[in-house]
Amino acid sequence: MPDSEPIFLLLPSILSLILFFILIKRKQRRYNLPPGNMGWPFLGETIGYLRPYSATSVGEFMHQHISRYGNIYKSNLFGEKTIVSADAGLNKFILQNEGRLFECSYPRSIGGILGKWSMLVLVGDMHRDMRIISLNFLSNARLRTHLLREVEKHTLLVLNTWKEKCIFSAQDEAKKFTFNLMAKNIMSMDPGHPETEQLKKEYVTFMKGVVSAPLNLPGTAYRRALQSRSTILKFIEKKMEVRIRKMKEGKENLEEDDLLEWVLKHSNLSTEQILDLILSLLFAGHETSSVAITLAIYFLPGCPLAIQQLREEHLEIARAKNQSGETELNWDDYKKMEFTQCVINETLRLGNVVRFLHRKALKDVRYKGYDIPCGWKVLPVIAAVHLDPCLFDRPQLFNPWRWQQNNGSRGAGTTTSSASSSNYFMPFGGGPRLCAGTELAKLEMAVFIHHLVLNYQWELADTDEAFAFPFVDFPKGLPIRVFKS
Ligand code: HEM
Repeated sequence: MPDSEPIFLLLPSILSLILFFILIKRKQRRYNLPPGNMGWPFLGETIGYLRPYSATSVGEFMHQHISRYGNIYKSNLFGEKTIVSADAGLNKFILQNEGRLFECSYPRSIGGILGKWSMLVLVGDMHRDMRIISLNFLSNARLRTHLLREVEKHTLLVLNTWKEKCIFSAQDEAKKFTFNLMAKNIMSMDPGHPETEQLKKEYVTFMKGVVSAPLNLPGTAYRRALQSRSTILKFIEKKMEVRIRKMKEGKENLEEDDLLEWVLKHSNLSTEQILDLILSLLFAGHETSSVAITLAIYFLPGCPLAIQQLREEHLEIARAKNQSGETELNWDDYKKMEFTQCVINETLRLGNVVRFLHRKALKDVRYKGYDIPCGWKVLPVIAAVHLDPCLFDRPQLFNPWRWQQNNGSRGAGTTTSSASSSNYFMPFGGGPRLCAGTELAKLEMAVFIHHLVLNYQWELADTDEAFAFPFVDFPKGLPIRVFKS
């Protein structure tokens, strides 16, 4: 009897464990889950899901899963039970029901590196407060009165350094442009200044960690990025202290109409919150639009008709400006860039800068007969919708004319996307978390394209391709050779 005593003591625990699993299984059986494969224990199917693929495709994993299970399937990704959606209607439904049925839920590693006050990870009231600040900084009024001028100035700063027949990385140049623009408008840092260059360098290490495996071990990119994060934060904090001192001494520089000045004067955010806000806006505002500009430079040489039509549009704008004696672009000029907007849409549709978003279900949700259980992770894959042949005719083709209202005559002979499919075009996400920089990003692309097509012709100097890692990147930086036009 004494030998069997431990077993008797453990029996109740074993029984309750078995009961617990039976109850969980029974509850799961009640759900009508979509088909799918949960993969290996813990790892699930994450490795396959994250395997790099061409950015203009959905990738082998997605393709196989959609063919096997349909547009909505279950899986185990990022260590969690997940519903993956390549369904246009479900994606829209998820994004529009943010805070009610679903909630933003990025992996913990993203919060570790962008900070717990980053807008990307915040939810609820705190997210709303931060969002208001960002929208204020990026408002339409500021775009017209201030940011348009800034965007043009920083575009020219980069383009004017390009030399005839030189070969350089288009991706690096686009990054230079968007980084300088953000650094100037967030913290009044001047391009080319040693401290701006130092921050840029630190930022490259930081970015490598954002997109690496989240292993906080000596020597890993993630560990180095965490170190860079603290260097960058110290740097921003110093800037903040100087600004606060100046404000106290009444030595405010009225020209410093930047985000830092605005948050210090008009918000009650703590130092830690301001640091994370600035870091994440620098991140959100520079990585994405530089990739989008690089993608446009990549796609356009494959479609000479589009370059020709762009040139005509921008020559017309430039001619009218010459006649009126104006030099800088104004809002009316920007509004005339109609075909350019089609090129921008098509670049974002085919290139898919942001491919999927991270959400979780806050309640049990039923959609098209399938259940999404409360607490499960949900991944709306916006790229899969943009590349869906049922919604976009010949989706692999770069065809800017598909976005024209009347599907102008010069297209590549394909039909336009139907009005309903453009409803599902969501490169900037949607609902209450719609990208706060949507209008700025489009403005940056349009102004960059304006001066690019007016001043240069270019060709790809080496074979390179946009890959989804899943963040979009050109492994060789997209080398191009330029000629003055
Ligand atoms: C082509 C360029 C860009 C693309 C494709 C893009 C895409 C996106 C997407 C898809 C989201 C939603 C994330 C989610 O719902 O989980 C987002 C959020 C955000 N983006 Fe952008 N973005 C771009 C440029 C910019 C720029 C230039 C800025 C401004 C500085 C910016 C600032 C933000 C901010 C602050 C958020 C968080 C919004 C919130 O949570 O309320 N983005 N972006």
